[in-house]
Amino acid sequence: MIKLKNISKTFTTSSSKLVALNNVSLEVRKGEIYGVIGHSGAGKSTLIRCVNLLEKPDSGEVLINGVDLTNLSPKELRESRKRIGMIFQGFNLLKTATVFDNIAIPLKLTGVDKAEINKRVEKYLAIVGLENKHGAYPSQLSGGQKQRVAIARALAHEPEILLSDEATSALDPETTDAILELLLKINRELGITILLITHEMNVIQKVCDRLAVMENGVVVEEGSLLEIYASPKHETTKKFINSQFPNDLPKGLIQQERKVGEVITLSFVGEVTSQPILAALAKEFHVYPNILSGSIIQLKEHQYGRLIVNIQGDGEETAKAVAYLKDRNIQIEEVKGNDLEYCSI
Ligand SMILES: Nc1ncnc2c1ncn2[C@@H]1O[C@H](COP(=O)(O)OP(=O)(O)O)[C@@H](O)[C@H]1O
Ligand SMILES: [Mg+2]
Repeated sequence: MIKLKNISKTFTTSSSKLVALNNVSLEVRKGEIYGVIGHSGAGKSTLIRCVNLLEKPDSGEVLINGVDLTNLSPKELRESRKRIGMIFQGFNLLKTATVFDNIAIPLKLTGVDKAEINKRVEKYLAIVGLENKHGAYPSQLSGGQKQRVAIARALAHEPEILLSDEATSALDPETTDAILELLLKINRELGITILLITHEMNVIQKVCDRLAVMENGVVVEEGSLLEIYASPKHETTKKFINSQFPNDLPKGLIQQERKVGEVITLSFVGEVTSQPILAALAKEFHVYPNILSGSIIQLKEHQYGRLIVNIQGDGEETAKAVAYLKDRNIQIEEVKGNDLEYCSI
């Protein structure tokens, strides 16, 4: 549905040249929620702005349903953009207009008639849960409500694609969750494909089907949510994932534990998260697993767990125990450093 092919973009100022995007390619499939994560300055906003050509790439193709937007006339581009909605961190509402007008004015500008405007405002305010706020001004709304108005405004054009540039970054954690729930609902019930960018892994974790990790204008890693969590390859990806797991082991603990057994990380996805796998290990083999740290998080509809365990026992029994875990699709890695932050998962 969205295909970016070899997109590059350099910003030139009087004193310098800055490569914001360096040969970026990615593909978003119809009906999915695709996330791009990266630190500030990675090039995410530039990338997402290239999708509706708010930013024109220096080179590369921007294909929407097979049509390259970079080749369209201004009129054709305006038509194509109607199918692409966008929401922002700062909401971008008209301060002097009511909620109704914030949604109605852009519709009017694109030539939608009055009866249809009334119908759509009604419909989309109900979908975002603000049916009682027609007459309110943005200053009378909370951050979460403002973002709901912005979402209703985008949906009122009945787009196929919704672009989200850090839409939850200005919101508190609870409101972030509520807006993410709304994005999931829009995706499921209206079938809208969503491309979102964020610097927060918890946003990716809760809603995305697939994701790309960006750094210095380059996509450094890409895959499904489960693939990326189960075996991240790039250092930046590992750091983003590690940031979600509490790293509160006392200093020196891993060194100390290593004297009495092997310290390993177990990561597992799905059904196995609810099985008493370590108890089974102790029963089946002459080993004594000791949990040093652990948690389970939700990855969209799956569960993903991670445990740091010290397995005490002789070499042969430990090897058998490790093989038993691997047989059950549990990923195992030895904790290499002396501190969890160095641990690769
Ligand atoms: N209009 C612009 N002119 C000059 N430099 C820009 C412009 N827009 C973005 N940049 C630079 O491009 C890089 C990528 O920016 P951006 O895409 O906003 O990153 P992100 O959204 O990941 O924080 C940054 O170094 C930023 O300063
Ligand atoms: Mg940005």
